[in-house]
Amino acid sequence: MGEGLTKAAARNIFYGGSLFFFIIFAALVVHSHYYAATTSVDAAGLNDGVVRGKRVWEKNACIDCHTILGEGAYFAPELGNVWVRYGGRDDPQGAREALKAWIRSMPTGIPGRRQMPHFNLTDQELDDLASFFEWTSKINTQGWPPNEAG
Ligand code: HEC
Repeated sequence: MGEGLTKAAARNIFYGGSLFFFIIFAALVVHSHYYAATTSVDAAGLNDGVVRGKRVWEKNACIDCHTILGEGAYFAPELGNVWVRYGGRDDPQGAREALKAWIRSMPTGIPGRRQMPHFNLTDQELDDLASFFEWTSKINTQGWPPNEAG
C-alpha cells in the first residue's frame, strides 16, 4: 500500500461521504416540500371543489392525452395554463363557462383536427374541473411553460 490510502481511510471516506450527501439530500427534500407547501402553491385556495376536480381529472385519465405542468402525454394541449388562456384572470366566470362548454361540445368532428372524446360529465364535475384548472394556474412555475402553447 505504501503511502497511499489505507483501507480504514478509504472506508471512512466512503461512509463519511455517504452520510454527508445523504444529509444534504434529506435537507433538500425537506426544503422542497416546505417550499411547495408554503410558497409555490395557493394552499389557502385549495378548497373541496379543487380536490374533487383533481379526482375527476384522474378518474377520466385526461392525462392520457394532455399534459399538466409538462407532465403527461403530448397529444393534446397543455392544461396547466388553460385557465389563463381562457381569460380566467380577467373574467373568472366567463372562463369557467367557456371551459365547461368546450368540454361538453367535444368531439368537434372537424376533419384533420385531433379529436377529444365526449365525456359524460355532470355540471358539478365540470365546475370542479374548472376549479382545479383555476387553482393549478396559480402555481408559481417560475415562468414555465416558456410559451403559451406549453
Ligand atoms: C383522447 C385524447 C383526449 C383525452 C383523453 C382528453 N382530451 Fe382534452 N383535448 C384533446 C384534444 C385533441 C384537444 C384539442 C382539440 C382541438 O383543438 O380541437 C383537447 C382540448 C381540450 C381543452 C381545450 C384546450 C385549449 O387549449 O383550448 C380542454 C379544456 C380539455 N381538452 C380538457 C380535457 C379534460 C378535462 C379531459 C378529461 C376529462 C380531457 N380533456 C381528456 C384530447 C383529449
